[in-house]
Amino acid sequence: MQKKYELYRGKVKTLYSTNDPDLLVIEFRDAVSALDGKRIEYFKRKGLINNKLNYFIMSMLEKSGISTHVQSLYSHNEVVVKNLDMIPLECVIRNRSAGSLVQRLGVVEGRVLDPPIFEIFLKNDSKHDPLVNESHCQTLNLVDMNHLVCMRGLSFKINDFLYRLFDSLDLILVDFKLEFGLFDGKVVLGDEFSPDSARLWDRDTLNKMDKDIYRCGLPGLIDAYEDLADRLGVILD
Ligand code: TMP
Repeated sequence: MQKKYELYRGKVKTLYSTNDPDLLVIEFRDAVSALDGKRIEYFKRKGLINNKLNYFIMSMLEKSGISTHVQSLYSHNEVVVKNLDMIPLECVIRNRSAGSLVQRLGVVEGRVLDPPIFEIFLKNDSKHDPLVNESHCQTLNLVDMNHLVCMRGLSFKINDFLYRLFDSLDLILVDFKLEFGLFDGKVVLGDEFSPDSARLWDRDTLNKMDKDIYRCGLPGLIDAYEDLADRLGVILD
């Protein structure tokens, strides 16, 4: 399999075609973004770290019976994935209150959310990815409702698995975002799972070990991502 042409350059990842129409390559660049891409900065090694973390987590999910798009590592900062027909929604699971939930509802940060909250956001940068509900999805035809049922079920299943995994490493999986697509008519997990798209707190100190470090202007982003890789046993070099 050979990487061919650049198809899409996102804020921190680039998508390439390959000589196999069913496969793509995702490159994780050494960049971090916040505020809908208004802030983008360069961080050495970040592409490598997120690529390896994402590959590790996706492989664990695959072993636990969840279909993901990840196929194999292509280079230190690139991964081969299935070419999914992406569903333009973001699914968020929240185990503790943080981020936009705190801003929207005034809930105190860190409150345990039991049962966890499932939210759907429309992928639309110019509208700042607005929150939508199942009624919007149905009436506005944003997604096939059978697929949405599947995405919701998979999101909770992924949460059950990852919450336990991170708990065993003394980490709290606060919240995370997932994106899904279709391959042969089946709903498959796409995009990434990384500390860019999840909130993870150290259980003892409640220190942030995710992109909130950058969002809040704190130092130590790469150190925290490397600590995360170390706890998961992910070899980076
Ligand atoms: P939020 O609190 O900003 O809504 O984010 C919830 C979780 O989803 C958090 O872990 C960050 C992640 N997320 C993304 O990765 N990309 C996005 O575009 C959004 C809105 C959230």
